[in-house]
Amino acid sequence: MLTKSHITAEELYQTLRKIKVGGTVCTYSYKKCEEFVPLINEINDLKEQKNAVILVHSYVSPEIIYGVGDFVGDSYKLAKDALSTKADIIVFAAVRFMGDTAKILNPEKAVLIPGLLDGCTLADSINGAQVRELKKQFPKHTFVCYINTTAEVKAECDVCVTSANVYDIVQNIPNDKIYFLPDKLMGLNLKREMARRGVTKDIQFYSGTCYVHEEYSSEQIKNIRLEYPDVKVVSHPECKPEVCETSDFVGSTAQMLHYMKKSRDKQFLMLTECGLSSRLQAEFPNKRLVGSCTLCRYMKSNTLQDILRVLKDPTDRDRVIIDEQMRLRALKSIQAMFRYAEQN
Ligand code: 13P
Ligand code: SF4
Repeated sequence: MLTKSHITAEELYQTLRKIKVGGTVCTYSYKKCEEFVPLINEINDLKEQKNAVILVHSYVSPEIIYGVGDFVGDSYKLAKDALSTKADIIVFAAVRFMGDTAKILNPEKAVLIPGLLDGCTLADSINGAQVRELKKQFPKHTFVCYINTTAEVKAECDVCVTSANVYDIVQNIPNDKIYFLPDKLMGLNLKREMARRGVTKDIQFYSGTCYVHEEYSSEQIKNIRLEYPDVKVVSHPECKPEVCETSDFVGSTAQMLHYMKKSRDKQFLMLTECGLSSRLQAEFPNKRLVGSCTLCRYMKSNTLQDILRVLKDPTDRDRVIIDEQMRLRALKSIQAMFRYAEQN
């Protein structure tokens, strides 16, 4: 993302001024860019001095993505980036469980979390003790956890998945009994997709939801299609099945971006967190985004000020610390994901 370590307010403004969908939080004036630039340049100097990299999820605010991000993407790509970096310090601007995954893969590196709000409605919906109880109830099932879970939950499960690979991995697991957790809506979409592919498996799932994606409805899609008959509707698998069924494409945030990039169409409705729409507007200004989008309070709790603070003087709370036994058990489920994902 970042092409050089020092940028000017004019350069930042030229990228961010194209962002319009999402209200005042997602719009940028030249003055706002002038305020960001000293912080951005100080962070980039510190990164060089400390051999640090900044990993940023696409939902995080654009001034972070385009100002200081070294790696930007969906949760699968960021896990792979965390595995490949040679830096001594990883600053993970996203949500805590993504930072946990980076630490599970890199026990020798310092992983720092600038986001002030720990958690995510999915990751908070289930803990390790609850998974242990479920395993007693479903002893023959393979336990598949979404990456949006804590290290403690990953340690109890067999295979981790992300929205980019959940369908292919579940199809390839050599067991016809699957317990998927924690996302109920993704579980319903998974059942539907397996039926569509002719794969017969007993799929049980938990009751968690993402508060951002569960808001969207097929009624909203209907109304947008009336107003913009040529619009392509693109949704994330954390949305309700009725939403996914009426969308033109369903995929992870990176797959949504790729779909838009490759498409010859001009108008899109992106049913996911606003940060992705911001990225798309900045990177593909000739395509038009219609409708609205919603903010994730956890992802948006990352700021340039806190990135600078954790790089300068991290507290215990900013550092990811995982018990070694738990890390090794959680690592197995993540390694199983990489093995299955690379089979395809
Ligand atoms: P992606 O893996 O598609 O980026 O999704 C992560 C997430 O938190 C979606 O809400
Ligand atoms: Fe969690 Fe939803 Fe936010 Fe993604 S968008 S981090 S699933 S609350």
